Amino acid sequence: MQAETEDPSTEPEVTPGLVDKYGRVATDLRISVTDRCNFRCTYCMPAEGIAWKPHDEILSFEEITRLVKIFVELGVKKVRVTGGEPLVRRDIESLVAMLTEIPVPELAMTTNASKLRQKAGALADAGLQRINVSLDSLRRERFEVIARFDGLDRVLDGLDAASEVGLDPIKVNCVVMRGVNDDELIDFAEFSRKTGFHIRFIEFMPLDGDSAWKKSNVVSLDEIVETISARYPLVEGDRRGPAAEYAFADQAPGSVGVIASVTRPFCESCNRVRLTAEGQMLACLFALEDTDLRSLLRSGASDSTIAEAIRGTVAAKWAGHAIGNKEFTRPTRSMSMIGG
Ligand code: 5AD
Ligand code: SF4
Repeated sequence: MQAETEDPSTEPEVTPGLVDKYGRVATDLRISVTDRCNFRCTYCMPAEGIAWKPHDEILSFEEITRLVKIFVELGVKKVRVTGGEPLVRRDIESLVAMLTEIPVPELAMTTNASKLRQKAGALADAGLQRINVSLDSLRRERFEVIARFDGLDRVLDGLDAASEVGLDPIKVNCVVMRGVNDDELIDFAEFSRKTGFHIRFIEFMPLDGDSAWKKSNVVSLDEIVETISARYPLVEGDRRGPAAEYAFADQAPGSVGVIASVTRPFCESCNRVRLTAEGQMLACLFALEDTDLRSLLRSGASDSTIAEAIRGTVAAKWAGHAIGNKEFTRPTRSMSMIGG
């Protein structure tokens, strides 16, 4: 590239993209494609009595595709399909194929992997590039307590299936909770070294679920890194995006990363926006206001009207959340509704 020697008059016009009033540019869209899930993780859902949204309130694949096309035209580069559990939505691979067609520069999915053995091949064929698997314990009984589903073997098998069809890299998300699974940090590090999967520890966040979130139950980035590096020395990599990434000093396969939303909020560099299964756009995981894109879609709005609504939602994005401060208001939606 010789950009600096080029005549500026021949440079392509720079489109501003989705910029907010703090200068952040939204390039990463997370879409919840269903509020349903076959697990009931304690921090995400109540054990029972959940009123699922009726199908007609959930965006159709055509509606999602139309919105994603508009988002991509506005500068979104990365789309992550999430839920709920995306693999419980029937024929999800068709949506992946429709998004691939647009095209979306980077297409990823977050799943609990319980159905990944059956779906991995179809997803890879449809153009899915990367996958993140949520896995909070490597111990069968504990897994069942956290997910309220006896599914560890299926998840591990799903991970193998993803690896067999060539999805790469494979990331494993683990929400670390004090007194629940914080004694498994070394086990997860060893799992990473053995399999080459990249482990992403996520600091426990106060979203609505069945769990009583307390700051004292958050295991911090510093504590996670200290614990692991005492056994397996770590070298800090480039900080790309919200995860602090570490490789193993002895060059073993795999890596560990920490998403420190609580102790090192990355709000000031946040490039994410979200779309709920019902088509509400959120500029932040903790946003208390949303924009109803579904009504626009279903009332015959033009692409440019929808684009303006999207731009406006990004423009109004707040500076950041205030977890741990008095003024923090816990959102009423859990991750399953918002889309991880
Ligand atoms: N805190 C941290 N992570 C959470 N997730 C869901 N709810 C929370 C929470 N309260 C995780 C899921 C999944 C990812 C999308 O977000 O486990 O891996
Ligand atoms: Fe399902 Fe994920 Fe929520 Fe667990 S965290 S109940 S796997 S949506």
